[in-house]
Amino acid sequence: MTYHFSRILRVGLLLAMAYLVLAAVESGENPFFRITKKDVRLRKPAGFPAPVYDLSKNRITPAGFVLGRKLFYDPILSRDSSTSCGSCHQRIAAFGHIDHKLSHGINGLIGTRNVPALQNLIWQPNFMWDGGINHLDVQPIAPITNATEMDESLAHVLEKLRRHPEYPRLFRKAFHQKEISTALMMKALSQFLALMVSDSARYDLYQSGALEFTPAETQGLALFRQHCAECHREPLFSDFSYRNIGLKPDTALADYGRFKITGLPQDSMRFRVPSLRNVEITYPYMHDGRFRNLKQVLAHYAEGNFYTGWVDPSVKKSIGLTVTEQQDLIVFLKTLTDRKFTYDRRFVDPSGN
Ligand code: HEC
Ligand code: HEC
Repeated sequence: MTYHFSRILRVGLLLAMAYLVLAAVESGENPFFRITKKDVRLRKPAGFPAPVYDLSKNRITPAGFVLGRKLFYDPILSRDSSTSCGSCHQRIAAFGHIDHKLSHGINGLIGTRNVPALQNLIWQPNFMWDGGINHLDVQPIAPITNATEMDESLAHVLEKLRRHPEYPRLFRKAFHQKEISTALMMKALSQFLALMVSDSARYDLYQSGALEFTPAETQGLALFRQHCAECHREPLFSDFSYRNIGLKPDTALADYGRFKITGLPQDSMRFRVPSLRNVEITYPYMHDGRFRNLKQVLAHYAEGNFYTGWVDPSVKKSIGLTVTEQQDLIVFLKTLTDRKFTYDRRFVDPSGN
């Protein structure tokens, strides 16, 4: 009796699975990549401020997100179809570029800056290391048109998308408009970028009371709040200001940061305070990737061997950190790694590249 019953159950289960697979194949969709309404619901992480990006002007829908994801991973946005956003912004590195000091674009050309992680972007008032861009919806124009990144014109991208076998349908599905435009392309990309929320690191679990820190982590957090949190402010780990932390300018790159935007002498060598979320997996560090690991970063702050220029007074507080203190700080920084974010199924490249 039980034998028969379990056999019927097994056959039933097999049939149900076969049905699901067939349904998925028929709709041309792998269930792993399917995005539902639930998937695009934005949860506001506990303790985060209100987002800067106005989502009421660009409501995230499953179709809009799926289109944005396809665009993000599609090299069609570059002149020779060699480079996608995802070539530089790699999911496993919290959408930074592991092991590359400076960005690598089209024709193997090297850019002038380190690829930043992409996370919690809707809370960010400005973009780029120098804050040169002030709205998420225009940000992608920079890499698409940059000669060392994707080296393409917007007009030509639109032409290619309009001729494409799939994009016209995907745009209509997402925005119910006939014409593919730059504005809609940016909106779709923003919908994808907006959901890149990192709020599930060990640090967040500790903050919510779900776990306890080890003694070294506790000590690291205390030191962090004492020496670093003024600029790397919790819970986003940046106050989004521009600061000079005493790095020597690289004369070959001639990158003076915020100075490029404002032309003010006091802004020379000021760069945007980067978030430290996922910092363990976004090496190398700084705007030009000059430090290979966190040990070198901490040594910079501790040695106080700052380039004689105008250095922010609050970095001087870290001069003289002992080796143990530096180690505890690194232990704490590793609690900001969020594997739930980097392994999130929704952000996986659906083309399997
Ligand atoms: C060739 C590598 C490369 C490609 C391709 C690329 N990026 Fe970037 N991205 C960078 C670099 C480098 C920066 C920082 C530039 C700066 O500060 O001047 C950046 C910055 C950004 C930022 C701002 C992050 C912040 O914290 O300020 C966003 C958002 C972004 N990219 C999204 C995209 C999107 C969307 C695409 C595709 C349309 C794309 N990127 C293509 C290298 C790349
Ligand atoms: C005065 C503000 C300020 C203080 C204080 C400060 N930082 Fe920073 N931090 C910055 C800025 C600005 C940058 C980026 C500099 C650049 O790229 O030129 C940075 C970069 C970093 C980076 C590299 C991140 C990346 O993605 O490249 C790490 C790691 C870091 N800081 C950790 C710390 C730690 C740990 C402390 C405390 C010991 C600290 N910072 C104190 C402003 C500050």
